[in-house]
Amino acid sequence: MTIKEIFDSMEYGPAPESAAEALAWLVDQDSRFGHFINGEYTAPGNGFESRNPATGEVLATLTQATQADVDDAVKAARKAQGKWEALGGPGRAKYLYAIARLLQKHSRLFAVLETLDNGKPIRESRDIDIPLAQRHFYYHAGMAQLMESELPDAEALGVCGQIIPWNFPLLMLAWKIAPAIAMGNTVVLKPAEYTSLTALLFADICRQAGLPKGVVNIVTGDGTVGEMITSADVDKIAFTGSTSVGRRIREATAGSGKALTLELGGKSPYVVFDDADIDSAIEGLVDAIWFNQGQVCCAGSRLLVQEGIAERFHSKLKARMNGLRVGSPLDKCIDVGAVVDPVQLDTISSMVAANRAGTMHHAQVEMPEGGCFYPPTLIEGLSPADPLMQEEIFGPVLVSCTFRTPAEAVELANNTRYGLAATLWTENVNLALDMAPKLVAGVVWINGTNMFDAAAGFGGVRESGFGREGGWEGLAAYTRAKAKPKPLAKVEAFAGTGAPADPLDRTAKMYIGGKQARPDSGYSRAIYGKSGALLGHVGLGSRKDVRNAVEAAAGASKWSKTTGHLRAQILYYIGENLSARAEEFAARIDAMTGRKSGAAEVETSIQRLFSAAAWADKFDGRVHGVPIRGVALAMKEPVGVIGALCADEAPLLGLVSAMAPAIAMGNRVVLAASEPFPLAATDFYQVLETSDVPAGVVNILTGSHAELAKPLASHLNVDAVWSFSSSDLSAAIEAASAGNLKRTWVNDGTATDWTQDQTKRFLQESTEIKNIWVPYGE
Ligand code: NAI
Repeated sequence: MTIKEIFDSMEYGPAPESAAEALAWLVDQDSRFGHFINGEYTAPGNGFESRNPATGEVLATLTQATQADVDDAVKAARKAQGKWEALGGPGRAKYLYAIARLLQKHSRLFAVLETLDNGKPIRESRDIDIPLAQRHFYYHAGMAQLMESELPDAEALGVCGQIIPWNFPLLMLAWKIAPAIAMGNTVVLKPAEYTSLTALLFADICRQAGLPKGVVNIVTGDGTVGEMITSADVDKIAFTGSTSVGRRIREATAGSGKALTLELGGKSPYVVFDDADIDSAIEGLVDAIWFNQGQVCCAGSRLLVQEGIAERFHSKLKARMNGLRVGSPLDKCIDVGAVVDPVQLDTISSMVAANRAGTMHHAQVEMPEGGCFYPPTLIEGLSPADPLMQEEIFGPVLVSCTFRTPAEAVELANNTRYGLAATLWTENVNLALDMAPKLVAGVVWINGTNMFDAAAGFGGVRESGFGREGGWEGLAAYTRAKAKPKPLAKVEAFAGTGAPADPLDRTAKMYIGGKQARPDSGYSRAIYGKSGALLGHVGLGSRKDVRNAVEAAAGASKWSKTTGHLRAQILYYIGENLSARAEEFAARIDAMTGRKSGAAEVETSIQRLFSAAAWADKFDGRVHGVPIRGVALAMKEPVGVIGALCADEAPLLGLVSAMAPAIAMGNRVVLAASEPFPLAATDFYQVLETSDVPAGVVNILTGSHAELAKPLASHLNVDAVWSFSSSDLSAAIEAASAGNLKRTWVNDGTATDWTQDQTKRFLQESTEIKNIWVPYGE
């Protein structure tokens, strides 16, 4: 027998992992669980069954939380928070290290329990889920240790409500709990109803680590419990799950002042160029779409393959698919396990059954009897608009289409409402690094896929949500500025009856696409000084003006590709030109506000422009060392089009403080001028016009903030909305932002002391981090 014959005829024998210890642990708990509140397991109440999806057998009965349970958990978390934060970073770090070590010590028990509960292959839970969960606690123990020295201006948010999905039960728990408690928060976490067991085992680890009571609370139940947490007295909601639930949570928390991060779905492209190492690219695909049965938010579920190699690639892929082993998740030789629940199996089956396009290939593999199994599937020859190219299937189903040129690959890759991850496969590093910045995604992997590490932030753009988990940037989601917030106090316009000082029409126009524009409404409003003198008129901007301004801003996308050096020069130039007209601006501000602070406001505005110019070429990204053959480049990218309602009380400084950092980072802005005192803003566009600011980069509207807020916040081409208005528009803005899940920054009383230079915070809000994993070193 030749070696080839041996390889070809070799059979894998079963290599089952024993479930005895995990099942014994369940029996020890009577297979019935309550919640974990204030350091104790509560008595089991009315509940539901948790089943093994590979066999259908009942593993345990879980308790559906009542409103009283959620209230108790929040109360316990609230009570514990002050003391926990006061322990200080190094004090908290000890507990995180202890948790990490205990997770390591009990890693096999966690892995087996996870596999029983979720259906994922034991190889994955043993080698990926559980080690990454440990790593998250070790990494964030370090963050707690460093918090005081590295984040001196940050403090905990308070109590965090955390709602997680079923695809990586313990890992998602670690992603949520580790950074939260490291930064001094306490948590109420709800695992997904299909997969709560490892969270309940984790509760025991918290007890073993001696974690103070109430720091971690776990309540179980379905989406209604998620809703209770969302509306509870918590300071933040962190959610991972479907885009539709994420949108509902955005609406439900609108105007509540709760911080929010959403990590939602995706339809991530997996792009293979004709010079790729095809065999590696195919192994990569196995990890991209058959890892965890494709139930991965960043799964490479959309294959885009260059035309010249498409046929060869697809036929090799099908051969590889036919070699995958589907079966008992506890068998160490298995590649593909069970889908999480019959409900999810139904979703996958009906989405695939409804598809009429392309050609389908189910892997020719032996399928297990019973259980929630679905064969690895490829549907090739789809066109970009076909539903299965757009909709997240969340199962082991790969869809594919071809492309000819790199430019077409970019277009197809970005042709989705999501923006979570993307994979590039090519031997040409120039091509890969040319493509990476063009992809709209929070994570890009080059010649690798589905790689994660606590040091590299993870999260998306567009309808994949906002906020990052992991890395330095992930900490922002669990901290706030220590500064004392300024209460919102409405600034009213002055009334008057005065006649104009001269008979000429003084109606200031708006500034859209580099041109002065009359308001579409045809209405204007008189602006009076404190003494009642008429200073001029401004147009009342409406929905149509917002649309025009956003269109102009969207059209100025080239600005995002200019260099920091160029943007700095233009900002200096704006500063110089403002300085040349300082007296005129100061007089205007004094006339509008009735104060004598105009000169100081102009001077500070010039300083803000210079600060933003200084940072334009220095607010750099980072390079993360990750424990996989490579590094992750954390690149700061502009958010896109930012709509901002500018401060009412500081007519020039408020506008400049928001505009300068935003454009320094390459964003384009639509600014609503101070509502009571808009004339400094309308004078300011004359400065912009003489300072080489390209048309569309800065657009200025005047009128009622309440009128302008809604169309700005609901416009699909606006990527972020900020409000420093003295009108409380947070509820309207946050609710309207749910449409395309844009980022919002509203009513932050710690950001509006305009005498303080807060350029760095504005720079942070002006950028989104893209982590690009590149091969590096051995
Ligand atoms: P889901 O988004 O409904 O569930 C995720 C978590 O949210 C669970 O803990 C659930 O109990 C909770 N939840 C449900 N409704 C809620 C509400 N109104 N308020 C607060 N919390 C709520 O996801 P589901 O139904 O399990 O899966 C449906 C689809 O969602 C999947 O087919 C997949 O496409 C997508 N999905 C995406 C995930 C991701 O990581 N991006 C994870 C899980 C699902």
